[in-house]
Amino acid sequence: MRILSGIKPSGMIHIGSYLGMIRPMVESQNRGELFCFIANLHSLTTMFDAKTMIQFTNDALLDLLALGIDPEKSTLWVQSDVPEVTELTWYLSNVTPMGLLERCHAYKDAVARNIPANDGLFTYPVLMAADILMYQSNRVPVGKDQKQHVEVARDIAIKFNGMYGNAFTIPEEEIADAIAVIPGIDGQKMSKSYNNYIEIFGAEKAIRKKIMSIVTDVTPVEAPKDPDHSTIYAIYKLFATEEQSSVLADKFRAGGLGYGDAKKQLFELLWDYFAPFRAKRNELSANMDYVISLRKKGAEKARAAAQGTLDNVRRLVGVV
Ligand code: TRP
Repeated sequence: MRILSGIKPSGMIHIGSYLGMIRPMVESQNRGELFCFIANLHSLTTMFDAKTMIQFTNDALLDLLALGIDPEKSTLWVQSDVPEVTELTWYLSNVTPMGLLERCHAYKDAVARNIPANDGLFTYPVLMAADILMYQSNRVPVGKDQKQHVEVARDIAIKFNGMYGNAFTIPEEEIADAIAVIPGIDGQKMSKSYNNYIEIFGAEKAIRKKIMSIVTDVTPVEAPKDPDHSTIYAIYKLFATEEQSSVLADKFRAGGLGYGDAKKQLFELLWDYFAPFRAKRNELSANMDYVISLRKKGAEKARAAAQGTLDNVRRLVGVV
C-alpha cells in the first residue's frame, strides 16, 4: 500500500500539527510505503518572498527528518525537485471541468473574503491531484480541510482513466479524527492562523512563556478544579502516560494546585517529550551537506517512481 502525504512549508511545526499530521505520517512508515514531500509549489500560491520560501523549505526538511521520517524507509523529497509534476498538472487540467474547481472551498473562501484569487490558487487542486496520481497513491492521509481536494483528485483520475485508458490508481483519503481538535493556548483549536500555538523547536524561554500564558479561569489555588475543563490538562493528557495523567488529574481535583504550577509541569513534560527530536534537529542542522544529500537522493527516488506514470500518460494523450 502506498501512502502519500504532502506538507506545505510554513516556517514552524506546532504540537497540534505534530499530533494531527506528522506523528501519524511517521507511524505510517510501518504500515505501508510512505511518499512524503514538502509542497513548496503549493505555497507559491500565497507566499511571494523567495528568501522566506527557501528558509521555510529547509526548515520543513529538518523538521520532518528530526521528527522521524526515515529516508531509508520512505521517499522524502521537495515537490519542485521533481518538476515533472507540473507537466502532469497540465495533462490533468485538460480533463478537469471548470465547475469542479469552482466548487472547491479554498478558492471559494478567497473569493468570499474578497482576496484577489490568482490562477494558481484556482488550479491548486489540480496540482495536488498531480502529486497524488503521479505516484499511484492508494491512501492520502489529510486533515478535514483537504478532504475535498482528494475527492477532486479521485474525480480527475476516474475521468482520465475513462477517456484515455488506465493511467492512475484511484486514491482514497484517510481522515484521522482520533485527536481531531488540539486546543491552543486560548482554548480554541490550535492553529498557526489563530496565533495560539506552542511550537516544537522554538527557544526554551519562548516556549515556556507561551505555556505560562495559557488562558485559565480564576479559581483560587486552594480550590478543587475540574481537569476536564482545563486547557492545561487537555494538552498534558495528549503527551503524558496514563499514569502521569491520572496523577495530575487527582491533583487538580484535590485542590492546592495552582494553575501556574500545572503550567510548569506541562512545560517540563513537553520539553522532555521533544528532547530527542531537538537533539536530532540540532545535529542535522549542523550537517547541512548531509541534509542536502538526503534531499537529492529523495528527489531521485521520487523521480524514478514518477517516470512510469508520466511516460504512460504522454503516450495516452499523444504527446510523444
Ligand atoms: N494542500 C495540502 C495542505 O495544504 C498540501 C498538499 C499538497 C498535499 N499536495 C498534496 C497533501 C498531496 C496531500 C497530498 O496541507
